[in-house]
Amino acid sequence: MTEEAGRAPWKARVLTLFPEMFPGPLGHSLAGKALERGDWCLETMDIRSFALDKHRSVDDTPFGGGPGMVMRPDVVDAALAAALVPAADGRPIGPAIYLSPRGRVLTQALVKDLADGPGCVLLCGRYEGLDERVIEARGLMEVSLGDFVLSGGELAALALMDAVVRLIPGVMGAAETLAEESFERGLLEYPHYTRPAVWQDRAVPEVLLSGHHEKINAWRLRQAEEVTRSRRPDLWAAYAKRAEPKRKA
Ligand code: ADE
Repeated sequence: MTEEAGRAPWKARVLTLFPEMFPGPLGHSLAGKALERGDWCLETMDIRSFALDKHRSVDDTPFGGGPGMVMRPDVVDAALAAALVPAADGRPIGPAIYLSPRGRVLTQALVKDLADGPGCVLLCGRYEGLDERVIEARGLMEVSLGDFVLSGGELAALALMDAVVRLIPGVMGAAETLAEESFERGLLEYPHYTRPAVWQDRAVPEVLLSGHHEKINAWRLRQAEEVTRSRRPDLWAAYAKRAEPKRKA
């Protein structure tokens, strides 16, 4: 285990009706190797094992009518109670997150906050959703991947963990790669090129072949600004606002 001095590895506890979906893609590549090394931990808990009746039911019809089924608050609460027990050293596991299209949209800032903490509990919904009372009673943080509807929270939980795990020291190769990538500076990434220098009559921008690092960095910053300005006015406005006091000074 390659823990950072005295720090327990980052831990995700996933509550799901489909535990076999994990670690899924996170068992491969850099995240998978880090999981094997013990740089992070993944535990799944089957929500159905907290069912209270002999039919092992986890959902029921919605009060007020309407389509679909709703996950029962008593069953989900029992699963959350088990998932939220602190570690042997008394450390809490971290926030309880419910993956839902109604949540705040996942950002790199939230990913960083989670990576800086001890871990989190990830509750994956299915069916029409979860009884609102358990969201309130447990103060769940609702997090969405974006304005689209998945058939359950599992893929969202995998995406969230992927984003967190790659920030754990030792998981990714070069630290500079992280510092320059999209969102780290509030900008989208500049374009990348590799060999061959000319491909299908398209030449790589001259400056990248110059070996002049200052010019290359300046060109990359201009490109990152341009791509952000044209594609993501929301990010551009926030970036420009942050840059403003510096320009005035
Ligand atoms: N579950 C269903 N849709 C989702 C989304 N967009 N984000 C997170 N969890 C979800």
